[in-house]
Amino acid sequence: MDDDRFSELRGRLAAAGSVCVLTGSGISAESGLPTFRGVGGLWRAHRVEELASPEGFTRDPHLVWSWYAERRRAHAQVEPSPAHRALAQLERRAQRFTLVTQNVDSLHRRAGSRNVLELHGALREARCTRCTARRPFDESFDLDALAHDCGGIWRPDIVWFGESLPRDVLEAAFEAARTADLMLVVGTSGIVQPAASLATKRCTGAYVVEINPEQTALTPLVDRSIRARATGVLPLLAA
Ligand code: OAD
Repeated sequence: MDDDRFSELRGRLAAAGSVCVLTGSGISAESGLPTFRGVGGLWRAHRVEELASPEGFTRDPHLVWSWYAERRRAHAQVEPSPAHRALAQLERRAQRFTLVTQNVDSLHRRAGSRNVLELHGALREARCTRCTARRPFDESFDLDALAHDCGGIWRPDIVWFGESLPRDVLEAAFEAARTADLMLVVGTSGIVQPAASLATKRCTGAYVVEINPEQTALTPLVDRSIRARATGVLPLLAA
């Protein structure tokens, strides 16, 4: 990006009363985690319907849990990237700042972001399929003891295909998009709804800037697309 265009973006950021950021797995690629649909992506090697659907879970809860246990371990082994940290820095300086993420890896929180809306849940907890009970999903979680006392079964606290997003989180995300002056869309292919719709004119009047090394479904719909990796742009913006 040339200097003029970069300073224009910095100006917009400084002037924005309210900033909303939408992230996807591309930002965590900067920490070494795989994306879903790119080369080496999770959905290229695994069947979504087996591992990320209520039907798949009912069919084989152990298979599903083993896969998420592997992913949780992978999350714990990496660190937030300079791009994650830059967003946390930007939040500290902004008047209003909401970070909406599709990621379940907790890297934004670990980087110090505070106002984080996790649209697809997080792999920090398990919840019961029948009652409201929750428990931490950590090393102590026993994959051979999945039955809960109430007759339900423990499942990861994330959203699977065919399921609704948590209502309060989704409403807060729509509100953040609606009231934003500037929106940054970082590291998402923009094909999973309703997350992607947040960055469209149906949901926001903000100036929308996409940061992604590749063209996406959102590229034709945003005000500006910066073809770069997240770490190539966000740390400079926060500097
Ligand atoms: P995708 O794998 O669909 O898209 C990842 C995007 O990140 C692509 O557009 C890449 O070009 C971009 N990307 C890769 N490296 C990047 C980098 N270093 N900096 C910036 N961008 C980079 O992943 P998501 O859009 O996150 O949902 O997928 C959305 C949802 O689909 C996920 O939350 C998950 C998945 O199925 C559920 O599991 C419910």
